Amino acid sequence: MPVLETESSKDKGGDNALPKLPIPELTDTLHLYLRCVKHLLTDEQFNKTQTIVQQFSAPGGVGELLQQKLKERRDKTDNWVYEYWLNDMYLNNRLPLPVHSSPAMVFPPQNFRGPSDCLRFAAHLISGVLDYKTLLDARALPVDYARGQLAGHPMCMEQYYRLFTSYRLPGPQRDTLVAQESSVMPEPEHIIVACKNQFFVLDVVINFRRLNERDLLTQLERIVKMANSEDERLLPIGLLTTDGRTEWAESRAVLMRESTNRDSLDMIERCMCLVCLDDASGPEISDSTRAMLMLHGGGPSKNGGNRWYDKPMQFIIGADGCCGVVCEHSPFEGIVLVQCTEHLLKYMIGSPSKLVRAASVSELPAPRRLRWKCTPEIHKLLSASTDKLQRLVKNLDMNVYKFYKYGKEFIKKQKMSPDAYIQVALQLAYYRCHGRPVSTYESASTRRFREGRVDNIRSATPQALAFVVAMTDGKLSSSEKMELLQGAIAAQTKYTILAITGMAIDNHLLGLRETAHELKLETPQIFTDEAYILSNQFILSTSQVPTTVEMFCCYGPVVPNGYGACYNPQSDHIIFCISSFYDSPQTCSANFSKAVEQALVDMRDLCDICKPTCNTSEQRPGKQGQSVESTHRAEEPKNQAPLPKVVVKAAEQSPAQGGGR
Ligand code: COA
Repeated sequence: MPVLETESSKDKGGDNALPKLPIPELTDTLHLYLRCVKHLLTDEQFNKTQTIVQQFSAPGGVGELLQQKLKERRDKTDNWVYEYWLNDMYLNNRLPLPVHSSPAMVFPPQNFRGPSDCLRFAAHLISGVLDYKTLLDARALPVDYARGQLAGHPMCMEQYYRLFTSYRLPGPQRDTLVAQESSVMPEPEHIIVACKNQFFVLDVVINFRRLNERDLLTQLERIVKMANSEDERLLPIGLLTTDGRTEWAESRAVLMRESTNRDSLDMIERCMCLVCLDDASGPEISDSTRAMLMLHGGGPSKNGGNRWYDKPMQFIIGADGCCGVVCEHSPFEGIVLVQCTEHLLKYMIGSPSKLVRAASVSELPAPRRLRWKCTPEIHKLLSASTDKLQRLVKNLDMNVYKFYKYGKEFIKKQKMSPDAYIQVALQLAYYRCHGRPVSTYESASTRRFREGRVDNIRSATPQALAFVVAMTDGKLSSSEKMELLQGAIAAQTKYTILAITGMAIDNHLLGLRETAHELKLETPQIFTDEAYILSNQFILSTSQVPTTVEMFCCYGPVVPNGYGACYNPQSDHIIFCISSFYDSPQTCSANFSKAVEQALVDMRDLCDICKPTCNTSEQRPGKQGQSVESTHRAEEPKNQAPLPKVVVKAAEQSPAQGGGR
């Protein structure tokens, strides 16, 4: 496959106008690091860490050397942390992609009246993808702009251009993120359709003509027919991609020994995206069930093999109306995924299905089934992957909880940042469930900078701890608690601003650590210290993923005893997707959701009790308040727009579909 590292395939034009990510002062980072960990450690642990940090930062010491090298790296690269971060966050991670890494967007349930509705939805969606891809190919997407503080600052757009051109190749120690290089070879012009664990090549450009929706529908119908033929069914090879990355790399190497398999892999690796036509999954389609189905397909007995997890975009269209998209995360962040998905859904709402007269079926070459030659070794590997996926499916404890008592408008009225407020509520919920604060990760976008991805807002601040203790032990008056709440929100907001302006500590510490590694120095003690290790085990892994169309994002926890907590604040409600693992005796997603509800109710009550003072005492930071990762959606409604249940309404236009229900 003609591939290049993503780093070298970026546009040198627009993005170069953005500033480079800064490097914070070493002393600032180390001070903040100590502040972040102090209350998470025993006194003894902290004293040790403090001594280690002092040694690291001593004049003429290793810290200064590494800082100097990082500055040199900043001069030489577009983004000094990009590669370090990509490897550390994703490519070095050996855990399976489903649940552990790939997030999903869950669409509202669709009301398909029969298989033909489902295929029409798929054809319409693919049409939307092709429409969006035209914008991407022309590099014509409107630039996103930040709102709030630093308003009007353009955001880096590079992540968008990886949506339909990347592939995460498994490797024995580290994966590689590869991208099609459009100037060397044409962009991919086919989609892979997965149906009944079989993979089919759907060419979307035939004889230089982009297939219209009617053509796409015809091809999808042919694919379903082929997939239904039981005699021709091949093994569910997609299950191999659900395994740990090292295991999948090994299986892939075995597959590659056969030329048939090499050809099939090549077609998948070079496709635009997958469209997974899933079988119905069972009677219960609650939000939590749908979220799980998007994340892991329900396991080997359901649609778990109807996937290819290395591919960044897999659209899932279930016969039962359970739809969404699951994403390989390394090429882009959730915000970019939301923008793309919203574009597609709005395309489907705004442009009625165009089932114009069909091209004669004989004019369209038949879609091709991908073939696999499987040795007994592959059978064995597949069986191991199947068992592991089954265990993962059984282990995921997902709770989608919609909090309807209020939303971000109430919080704004308190003159508080909604995001900071929700983060403090999550801290309160965790403390009430577990009686201690834990290392917390909140993603903050650094797209104001060239090739910017994210840094971490360490939300378990000492101020948040003071507040949650006060709320739990009941010793303080309401006004004292209110003061602590305001302090916690101010601290959280301050950290947010540091993170989005490139001054947080996680990327910086990572850069110093990796520089030492590159220089082949002995790993400085600061990075082997218990405090550093503990502070990087994110028991609470949180992220705000807001949407303007009715849908929500979800993902799994990042440590065995932790929670994933994704939230979507709306004007008058907040959607939470809380995940954890059943086999941890310490966690329970339903209990945590209840604690989040209680925290939000108690915080509202506190605000209400203290109303006369709270409305005037809290000042927003900066002139224009909190920064908002935002985009070309300024004119869109604040609340989620409902998606019509079945957005394809053109059956009567299609003679071929007459008796299809
Ligand atoms: N008083 C009144 N209003 C306030 C306020 C205050 N003190 N502080 C903020 N607000 C307003 C903002 O102006 C904004 O208004 P809008 O809804 O009209 O635009 C709104 O409240 C939301 O702001 P806030 O909740 O403070 O923060 P945010 O939406 O900017 O979110 C981050 C902060 C960190 C989530 C955001 O900067 C970010 O980085 N997002 C990307 C996260 C990400 O990458 N997620 C995906 C990971 S895969």
